[in-house]
Amino acid sequence: MIKRLSIFLLLLAHTVSMSFVFASEEMHVPMQPDWSFQGPLGKFDRAELQRGYQVYTEVCSSCHSMDLVSYRNLVQEGGPEFSEKQAKAMAAMFEVEAGPDADGEMFMRPAILSDKFVSPWKNEQEGRISNGGAYPPDLSVMVKARSGGADYVYSLLLGYEDEVPEGIILDDGVYYNVYAKNQRIAMPQVIYEDGVEYTDGTAATEVQMAKDVTAFLAWSAEPKLEERKRIGFKVIVYLIILSFLLYFTNKRIWRDTSH
Ligand code: HEC
Repeated sequence: MIKRLSIFLLLLAHTVSMSFVFASEEMHVPMQPDWSFQGPLGKFDRAELQRGYQVYTEVCSSCHSMDLVSYRNLVQEGGPEFSEKQAKAMAAMFEVEAGPDADGEMFMRPAILSDKFVSPWKNEQEGRISNGGAYPPDLSVMVKARSGGADYVYSLLLGYEDEVPEGIILDDGVYYNVYAKNQRIAMPQVIYEDGVEYTDGTAATEVQMAKDVTAFLAWSAEPKLEERKRIGFKVIVYLIILSFLLYFTNKRIWRDTSH
């Protein structure tokens, strides 16, 4: 009886796992590049985050806001770690509305470290109107918000193909993308070779740009990742030592009473 039951369970498990294999083929499993921040001891690569900021600013920020990030965060430990001077200069390239002044007028001033990243739109409506009705979502926590995380965002950026397969009909302002839901997305391809000129001299291939900007978005979605992993590691070492101590203490306590 038990043997039969276990064979049945085995078959069931097999069927379920095979159906996952086939289902995921339909959904186009994202590409999985090596991320420096993967694994229990993973860390962000500073240079990669700095390049990622450049790609976000020069390519994505004309459509996507990042409301949860301040220019000051660019300086903080565990992030791109720009110098304060660099971050101040970067902030000053954007303008924010301030005021009212003595005459009751609002005015524009350059952004400072404590300002949030400046949004390209006054409000969601303006964003929609400029993008044929589709709102470019805020990217601050996008990597956490989508299943597939960094792999998905990276793949999506590289998933545009010129040849649209038969049977896929695209409305105006909708593009074919292998990794998008239903293979359709209202964002055009934005990553092209040499789309930016990296200040650190790295060759701006499509793969490079997609990886850098995705790493930057992974950081913005979890700015304390490095701290979390550091603490996790310490806790595990502590628990291992504690286990040894308890084991020997226990042995010692029971040594005299055991016989
Ligand atoms: C021309 C405007 C434009 C630019 C530039 C742009 N996007 Fe988008 N993006 C959009 C729009 C519009 C959508 C919403 C698409 C939809 O809902 O179909 C979107 C959606 C997204 C999504 C969400 C996809 C999903 O699963 O819902 C991600 C991630 C994204 N963009 C990343 C980026 C990154 C990274 C860059 C810069 C490298 C960028 N975008 C540049 C317009 C833009």
